[in-house]
Amino acid sequence: MKQLANKHILLCVTGGIAAYKAAEIIRLFKTSGANIRVLMTEAAQEFITPLTMQALSGNQVHTDLLDTKAEAAMGHIELAKWSDIILIAPCSANSIARLASGKGDDLMTAVCLAAVCKIYFAPAMNQAMWSDSRTQENFKKLINNNFISIGPDSGEQACGDEGFGRMSEPQQIINQIASSFSQGLLAGKKILITAGPTREKIDPVRYISNRSSGKMGFSIAEAARDAGGLVSIISGPVSLETPNEVDRINVESADEMLKEVDKAINNFDLFISTAAVSDFKPEEYENQKIKKQKKGNNLNLELTKNQDILKSVSENKGDLKVIGFAAETQNIIENAKKKLKEKNLDLIIANDVSDDSIGFDSDENEVYLITKKIEKKISKVSKKKLSRNIIEFIAENL
Ligand code: CTP
Repeated sequence: MKQLANKHILLCVTGGIAAYKAAEIIRLFKTSGANIRVLMTEAAQEFITPLTMQALSGNQVHTDLLDTKAEAAMGHIELAKWSDIILIAPCSANSIARLASGKGDDLMTAVCLAAVCKIYFAPAMNQAMWSDSRTQENFKKLINNNFISIGPDSGEQACGDEGFGRMSEPQQIINQIASSFSQGLLAGKKILITAGPTREKIDPVRYISNRSSGKMGFSIAEAARDAGGLVSIISGPVSLETPNEVDRINVESADEMLKEVDKAINNFDLFISTAAVSDFKPEEYENQKIKKQKKGNNLNLELTKNQDILKSVSENKGDLKVIGFAAETQNIIENAKKKLKEKNLDLIIANDVSDDSIGFDSDENEVYLITKKIEKKISKVSKKKLSRNIIEFIAENL
């Protein structure tokens, strides 16, 4: 990752089981060409040794505030000045509380008080500790003091619980730090994109789906990345390579897509819904293959509506900017404007899917960009060029 080359990163490791992941974070920073120094709290040293961190980072590890020898080598003020970015990962509930209180009674808190660079932190703790109102209050205090949070994610925890509090994966953390050094229209912005079709299973061998190739979503992901954004895709089944430096989660059904979007959405600034989500799914899933002998000459499939993912995101969107697509075969602008309003969107991108030379599976597209105030046509161009135009429009108008 070229953005990280020669950058000075101070990694602060605090006490928690996720401390072992700090070793992988160091490795990823090193392979990106960053110059990394490691600071460990006392509790962190109970989980992983300074020797390991020293061997991986190639620099002596910083542990003490009041050790005259260590201070003489590089004191806390110099360490703060040396850093282009400080990353606290994992950041325990206790560390969040101490940082929020403004204390400076150990090396980590003193360095953070003295720092003028950006400070990122990746919370990692048990889900009950994370949802405790005191942790939430402390977390908000840090955010109000310009600390930038990465995660936490939701999922299975070391203690066996399930929920929010899991530290984000090292690669995700590195991607976010790298994007903060990016330049471009969306520098540092976090963008979540849904893409491709969904598959709604009928029985173990059959499903309902549609013709979406995912090309538009993946191409927008590339354009957003090139504009300095930090991009994640949640994709239905497509045969496309994941663009470099883009996170990807694969799903099959609309329900799975909704679940992944719900889990992730709080961490993002922009949501772009390019997925051709199936509007309906079979009411019943047949566990065994449906045999034709048993069904006579007709087979009736009872379908039930899937939840609208885009609408559910925009219902509680707060500062999040929400962008939808409208696949139409007639009255394109009129229908798109209706969806813009009904789904409470900031922008809708409408295209005519009845024309085979554009839209589904094609490499070209022609669209209308519609907001409450603006209506702009982009005539037939490659999806790559169109994606760049869309990103420019978003950066300028939203
Ligand atoms: N969408 C979604 N979840 C669904 C259906 C649609 O997130 N269950 C999103 C699509 O990703 C797209 C937008 O909603 O951004 C509009 O999708 P479209 O298929 O054009 O419209 P629908 O809302 O499904 O309405 P209709 O099929 O009646 O035109």
